[in-house]
Amino acid sequence: MTDDTRSVPAATPNHTPAAVPPLTLPTDRELVMRVMPLPGDSNANGDIFGGWIMAQVDLAGAVLPSRIAKGRIATVAVNEFVFKQPVSVGDLLSFYAHVLRVGRTSVTVRVEVYAERNPADLKVVKVTEANLTYVAIDARGQPRELPRP
Ligand SMILES: CC(C)(COP(=O)(O)OP(=O)(O)OC[C@H]1O[C@@H](n2cnc3c(N)ncnc32)[C@H](O)[C@@H]1OP(=O)(O)O)[C@@H](O)C(=O)NCCC(=O)NCCS
Repeated sequence: MTDDTRSVPAATPNHTPAAVPPLTLPTDRELVMRVMPLPGDSNANGDIFGGWIMAQVDLAGAVLPSRIAKGRIATVAVNEFVFKQPVSVGDLLSFYAHVLRVGRTSVTVRVEVYAERNPADLKVVKVTEANLTYVAIDARGQPRELPRP
């Protein structure tokens, strides 16, 4: 169990567990997408299919690179992808992104996905984090230099 679920540590004989503040949505990075999965996005266990989440992360990750590239881009690599917690039908997913690296033709971003669940007693859980790289491409699909700001 990580602190992403902000669970209260178990008490030990000489230790009273400190109150852990509930996780809240980030305020220091950009919200690039919000979506709620549907029952049709579930796998045989009733959790949301990992491939569906990967597709959403790819869409969300493209937002900042598209702005920087000012034109067509292609995903060249998923450098890291971690499913930290399962996603359930009814979770409201928020995708936050920030730029890790701007290269000559490529932009690498980190995407973090948070689920808001159980609105009656709201709980925020970080469910996924990923690093993806996008390349600016020209009309022939070849890498092109990023425009300078
Ligand atoms: C994207 C594509 C045009 C890049 O062409 P390429 O000839 O491989 O390009 P390059 O080797 O010159 O690399 C281009 C940039 O990508 C980066 N890159 C390439 N592979 C990478 C990887 N595995 N991880 C991170 N960055 C990578 C390079 O470092 C370079 O960045 P820089 O110019 O900022 O330094 C080509 O690989 C392609 O068309 N891929 C398919 C894209 C696609 O269809 N995506 C949708 C998913 S199916």
